[in-house]
This record gives sequence, structure tokens and C-alpha cells, in this order.
Amino acid sequence: MRVPRYHHLLLGLLLAATPAALAQKTKIKVKKAAASAASALPQVSAADIEQRITALLGQMTLEEKIGQLNQYSGREVTGPASNRKNDLLNSIRAGQVGSMLNVKGVADTRLIQAEALKSRLKIPLLFSLDVIHGYQTVFPIPLGEAASWDLAAIRESAHVAAREAAASGIHWTFAPMVDVGRDPRWGRVMEGAGEDTYLGSQIARARVLGFQGEKLGGTDAIMACAKHFAAYGAAVAGREYNVVDVSEQQLWQVYLPPFKAAADAGVATFMNSFNTLNGIPATGSRYLQRDILKGQWQYPGFVVSDWGSIGEMVPWGYATDKADAARKALAAGSDMDMESDAYHTTLAQSVKDGKADQALLDDAVRRILRKKFELGLFDDPYRFSDEKREKQVLNDPQHRVAARDIARKSVVLLKNDNHALPLAQPRSIALIGPLAKAKRDLAGSWVVLADTAQITSVHEGLTKRAGKNTQVRYAKGCEVQGDSRAGFAAAVEAAKASDVVVLCVGETWDMSGEAKSRTDIGLPGVQTELFQVLKATGKPVVVILMAGRPLVFNQIADQADAILYGWWPGSEGGHALADVLFGDYNPAGKLPSTFPRSLGQVPISYQLYNTGRPVTKPGDIRYKSAYIDSPNTPRYAFGHGLSYTSFKYDGLKLSQPTMAAGQTVQLQCTVTNTGKVAGEEVVQLYLRDLVASVARPLKELKDFQKISLKPGETKTLTFTIDQDKLAFYNAKLEWVAEPGDFQLMIGSASDDIRLESKLTLQ
Ligand code: NOJ
Repeated sequence: MRVPRYHHLLLGLLLAATPAALAQKTKIKVKKAAASAASALPQVSAADIEQRITALLGQMTLEEKIGQLNQYSGREVTGPASNRKNDLLNSIRAGQVGSMLNVKGVADTRLIQAEALKSRLKIPLLFSLDVIHGYQTVFPIPLGEAASWDLAAIRESAHVAAREAAASGIHWTFAPMVDVGRDPRWGRVMEGAGEDTYLGSQIARARVLGFQGEKLGGTDAIMACAKHFAAYGAAVAGREYNVVDVSEQQLWQVYLPPFKAAADAGVATFMNSFNTLNGIPATGSRYLQRDILKGQWQYPGFVVSDWGSIGEMVPWGYATDKADAARKALAAGSDMDMESDAYHTTLAQSVKDGKADQALLDDAVRRILRKKFELGLFDDPYRFSDEKREKQVLNDPQHRVAARDIARKSVVLLKNDNHALPLAQPRSIALIGPLAKAKRDLAGSWVVLADTAQITSVHEGLTKRAGKNTQVRYAKGCEVQGDSRAGFAAAVEAAKASDVVVLCVGETWDMSGEAKSRTDIGLPGVQTELFQVLKATGKPVVVILMAGRPLVFNQIADQADAILYGWWPGSEGGHALADVLFGDYNPAGKLPSTFPRSLGQVPISYQLYNTGRPVTKPGDIRYKSAYIDSPNTPRYAFGHGLSYTSFKYDGLKLSQPTMAAGQTVQLQCTVTNTGKVAGEEVVQLYLRDLVASVARPLKELKDFQKISLKPGETKTLTFTIDQDKLAFYNAKLEWVAEPGDFQLMIGSASDDIRLESKLTLQ
């Protein structure tokens, strides 16, 4: 056997992992952790880590190397005895598992880590989980958080989730999902940041930094995972797991930038995706994983497959069997096999037969081991599994404060006729609807640990805030789904007896998320009818819509007095919505996705093209790019969201009308709060390249600033425009800014442009 060059390092490493040494280390760490939330690791240089990996690789058998590439779900491994449990435990003890998903909590992760430490080389396991929008404390669904356009709050939400998960034995979350989604039929739009590439890239960065901190190694940070690489959001017809067929230009212009932003922010891992991209399953795509990610972007982290996606290359008709699929996935750059059991069962033979490349295998192992070193797991495999810290952190009341903060920032005021909101202290409120007392629904999809009884319903939040002087009459009215109208009469009675109606309708939590594509994105069941009978009472009707996707609700949009879109707001949802209803918080959310008028407009985005036959006058549609039965415009545009105050935009100044290559120009404006209450506004900068070598959209978001203004206060804002903001991918896929004229637009929404200017690039 080859004598490893760094055998002394390896020996130290093995000694450090003896149970006695571990127990001692763990004790010391507990104290440290109590003193500082993010207990620091001993300073080890990157070069040192590479040396330790090389030493370790030199010790590993082929089977042990492949072992690092396998990831299994652990629901059974901590449960009652079963064949799968025995097999898994044996594989772990034999060093044939690199990572587990779905094992959580200090007790269970300690138990299973101890099994891994029985293996010959005692390489610790990585524990991973879908911590998508909170761990114990549930934050709003990612699409809801995106509506806050508040990068600091979004980062804080990810940080709190990481803090809780890291205290509970988790090293790695499968988030953020950075897929651009423009088709609300696709149930997973709830998990992303909406339709826009620029906003999505900013949010991708904020989430990665929130989960990981500036650098891995703290015990309040976990590895993030940019998923699903790539273009999963463009699944044809919004049908889950379907093919994706997008042009190279669209791929680079629209779908890849949020992944690049995550990579630039240091995201530790990537996950590939279930879809094909232009014919090739993403899991088997060398182009995506080797050429772009690990080649052009020089990405140092590792790629995990999506659940079973290596094996799924067989039913896709891209691989003959598991062995073929495993070879194709490894060659393409998929480093870790989540639950296909394809690497485990076939790769050793393929390497022995010379059909799979040993160097690629070593590279995959190296990438995975590197993360284990960076997390400090070789120094202390239990550093994330500390009972005392778990108890303390999971019960930190500050986490609920953070959840309420971002939940109210996520609420979008879609409509507010005659100042129906905020509610002046009414004598009585009829609180109606199938979601008025809902708790589980408010948590949305992807809840991993939360005790849903701890979630505040709208009923709880509203009755608490309304106090003794306001009577709240509750009636359910109907279910979310189904056609029973039996509850209508009681609802009408409650409405008639009250000053105002607050109606809570939408989807149930499990109508969006993975494998929840819908062909009808209307309000389910008889909820619209319930609205109509309540509206017929003549009482003002305020509608709170909660859902995991943009819905179509035209009658409510036409006739309600006010509409709040609450998404799934999480643990503090009821309080957050009460804050907004009563004006304790002035809503400032802006839509991260276009809300269509009808399903027929889908897929939809504000990034429309002029076409050769634009509609120039409303209604003048003959032989124009239009529908004969609907305007092209959406129901609510990207960036739309009202406030209880009003803002005046003024004083536009461009530092110079022309820009030479390499220069920057400054675009300034003032915004004044012209209303009576303090408020926040998201000031949005859009741009259009008027003539280019490739037709460009009418508007593209290029920057935004969220500001807070007291009544009467004015702020001056400056946007810096550099060449990058003017650039796009040309027909040769070069990132270029072409000389010519650009229209600059500043507005309160993509359909509410307040100031315009022109810039010429020389
Ligand atoms: C499949 C989903 O597509 C992915 O996003 C998730 O992280 C894995 N399952 C693990 O649960």
C-alpha cells in the first residue's frame, strides 16, 4: 500500500476522532458555544485542508470513495427495525454513506453519527434537510418573502433558520431554490423568488449569506444549496418534472444568473434538476455541470443530484440501466447521488472495468470531503449536535420577532378603495372564510419541524389586536375545496350584524409546492360565491388571500373594497396580518410575480417584447399581437403593491446624457411621502435597450432601493448605471453593451413608471 505523504496529519485526525477525545472536545465546545453563538473553528488554511484530503484519499479504498458519494433518506434509520434500517446502518458502519437527509435533532444525529464513526476511516456524515423557510420557527414561504424586496430581512430569515437547524444537528439545507418561475401552474413557484432574474439574483445572494454567513465553520451557519440546476422553472405547461426547452439566450439571460449569484456568494453546494434541458436530463448534463459550473465558473463546491434523478435517466430514455445512468451522471459532474442507489450499487464495477473515470471519482470525493473539513466535522463530528444549544436556540423568542417582521413585510396590498384599510377601530368585525382559523395552512409547504399548533391564525391575531371594544363574529362560510354552501347563511348573518367583513380565502397549504401543478389557478371551490353573497350585504369587504402561487380572482379584484395578498405567512402570520389590517404596520410588499387575468396568459412576465405589431391604443387589436378576448395587460403587474400613504416621485437628474465605454453615470430622483402616515417604498429602476442586435424586452428591472419615509419627508436616491446594467447576451452568447439609446424608467411598479430619461452609450 502507498504510504501517504501526510500520514502524521491523518494519524492526528484519526486520534482526534476516538470517542474519549471526542467527548472531551465536545465538552469544551459546549462551553464555547454557550459563550458565543458562532463558536469559531481553529484557523486552518485552505492549503492545509487540501493536504488533509489528499492524505485521506490515499487511505481510501474504491468502495470507501464511492461511499462518500451516497446520500440516503433517514426516516427509517431512526425508526423501528426494518430491512432498510439494517441495510442502511450496515452501509454507514462500512463507510459507504457520505450523507443522510431527513435525520434531524440532536439525539438522532448523534446516534447516527456515532454509527459512521464506527467505520474504518471514521469519516463523519453530512446531515441535510429541506430547511426552506424556517426550521422550528416558520417564516413566510420564499415567494412571500420575495415580495418584501427586503434583502436584509430575507438574509435574517435564512440566518435564523440556519441557527435553529444548526443547533439541531443539521449541516446542510437544500435551499435556496433560485429557479426563475413564470408559470403559476407550477406548484413550486412558492419556493422561489418569483419571475425576475435581477430580483432573484439579489435574493439568491441574500439567502446564501443568511444560511452560511460570510464563511462556513460557525455553529450558527449551515451549507446552502442552489437548486435546481438548471431552468427547472420553465417546465413545459407548468407540469412538474416535465421537459424544458429554452433557447441558449434565454438560458443565459433569464435562468442562469441567479445560480451565478449564488456561486459568487460562496454557496457550498448545487443541486441538479429533474427536467431535461433541450433534450438532456440536467443530471446528465456535462454542459451545465462540467462546462458551465465547474469549468467557466470555476465552482469549488459539490453537486448533489435531486432525489432519484440519476436513476430517472432510465425512464427518460437517456440511459439503459442504473449502471449506465451512474456513469453518465458522474461523467457529467453529479458528485453525490441522492437516493438513486446507483453509485453505490454500480460505480465500483464501472471503475474496475475502465468504464468510469477514477480521476472524476476522486474529484467528486475531494469536493465532498472539503466541505466536511470546512464545517469542522473532522475536528468534532458532533459540533452541531449539542443538546443544550438545541434547547436554547429553538426557544429563542427573538426568532418569532424576526418571523413577524418579515411576515408583515411580505404582505402585498393589491387594492384599497376609499381607504377601506387600515380598519378604523370598528365596533364589530365579521371574520369569515375557510382560512380564518387555519393554522397548518399558514405554514405552507416544506415544513420540517414546526409545531403547527404554535402558528397564529388570523382569528387569533385579529381578536387579540381588536381588543375588548370590538366584537369579532366568526363564521367559516365554506371549505377551501368542495361545493357545500351550507355555511353561507351564517356567514351572511355575521356580515349583516357587523361593520366590516374580513374574508380569508385561498388555497390549502398542500395545493402548492413540489408535485402540486394545477391546470386551474382560480380560487378553488365556492369561495368566490361566498365572497359574492357577503358583498351583496352592502358591507365593506376586505379580502385576505393566502396561497402559494399567484391566483386568478377577477370578481374579487373587481368588487372587493380592499385586498391583501398574504401568501403563506408562517408562524407569526396571524399577528402580521392583524398588524397590517389595523395599520400598526403600513404594508410595503410588491409583487415578485405577475398576476394574470386568466390562465390563458400564462406563462407571463412583465418582460414583454414590443413585437412587430404592438397594440398602441387599447382595444385596437386587429392584426396586432393581442388576444381577442382579453387585454395583454395582467391583473396586477410585477412590482405592484400599494401603501396606506402616497409617494411623489420628482427631481430626475442624469449626471450626463451620454456614457463612454467603461464609464458610469448617476441617475438621481427624489421621493416624498405625501400622505399622513410613515411608510416604506420600493423604488424600482427599469431599462430598455431601444435598438440592439437582439430584440430586447420593453422593461427589465436593473436596480431597486427600499426606503422608509415619515409623512412629508423627502429622500434623494442615486442609482449608478454601469455598462453591466446595459449589457445582455447577444446572438453569439457574448455579454455585451451595445452603443445606442437606452430608456431609463423609475417607478413604483413595472406598470407605474413615474420618471423617464434617455441615456446614450457611445
Ligand atoms: C426533491 C426536490 O425536488 C428537492 O428540491 C428536494 O431538496 C429533495 N426532493 C429532497 O427532499
